[in-house]
Amino acid sequence: MPRTPVIIDTDPGQDDAFAILLALGAPELEVLGLTTVAGNMGLAQTTDNARRIVELAGHGDLAVHAGAPRPLLRAPRPVPEIHGDTGIDGWDWAPARQGPAEGHAVDFLVRTVMGHPEPVTLIVLGPQTNIAMALRRAPEMVDNIARIVFMGGGYFEGGNMTPAAEYNILVDPEAARIVLGAGVPVTAVPLDCTHAACAPVNWSATLAAHGGEVMLACAGMMEFFERYGNAKYGTASRPLHDAVAVAALIWPELFEGRLCPVDVECAGELTTGMTVVDWLRQTGKPDNCLWLNGCTDPAELYRRIETALLRLRAPH
Ligand code: BDR
Ligand code: CA
Repeated sequence: MPRTPVIIDTDPGQDDAFAILLALGAPELEVLGLTTVAGNMGLAQTTDNARRIVELAGHGDLAVHAGAPRPLLRAPRPVPEIHGDTGIDGWDWAPARQGPAEGHAVDFLVRTVMGHPEPVTLIVLGPQTNIAMALRRAPEMVDNIARIVFMGGGYFEGGNMTPAAEYNILVDPEAARIVLGAGVPVTAVPLDCTHAACAPVNWSATLAAHGGEVMLACAGMMEFFERYGNAKYGTASRPLHDAVAVAALIWPELFEGRLCPVDVECAGELTTGMTVVDWLRQTGKPDNCLWLNGCTDPAELYRRIETALLRLRAPH
């Protein structure tokens, strides 16, 4: 089976961790490397987290390149209140055996995309700073990008940081605007989609029952995530936002959405970071984004994620 070559740009985050582990456990994907960005935590922490995650998965040979320490124009906005002090709280992580690979994430992105024999898909799970910088540095790279799949935004569901804005877009709205305007095929996996793709209630217990380091780490992170979500949203189940984005790339048949014009509000007094989706195509602007707003079978989705995670069961 031909595998889709991907680079994962990330700011782990428990849900980023699930997304990375899913991608590494999925035979459909070939992960060429990871790039990290300041987001849920500062850059040093997200980079160290990414290293811990690939090592846990038995993929310590993968390159993790550190990228932007701050958004294009704005101050960083770490959120330990959501993800804990480490960003991946919920598991007693072994220290990373290796540091980041040499070279800036943006250089790695440009070099790898341009040098790859077939078009590369970029999976973007945090603020889009690195991707925007790469597209500005080397606009010609659009010719060898198959698609950008990002987790971010919300239209029907509003925001999760302000009434209008979702975290990844709010942190670097200018970057998201550059990405959406770059002329590459884009799939957005916004809150409209992830909120329709909640994990089964007490999924952490199901994961823990498998035993083994990978599944126990996943169970611990899930439990941590469930606790925060339950307190804020009052619901018994939580969506693993970033993992849903990877899943949407692997199993598009489980999702629904519409190709339409999407832009980002960068200057609104109350709406900065809002993704403005022209769902009814009223602006006459060109369609630039496949906006996913539904998941047809969340139970099946999480069964498939579980199967992929089980492939990673590290020797112990
Ligand atoms: C997004 O924000 C981050 O906190 C998560 O990792 C995810 O990428 C959800 O809004
Ligand atoms: Ca993230």
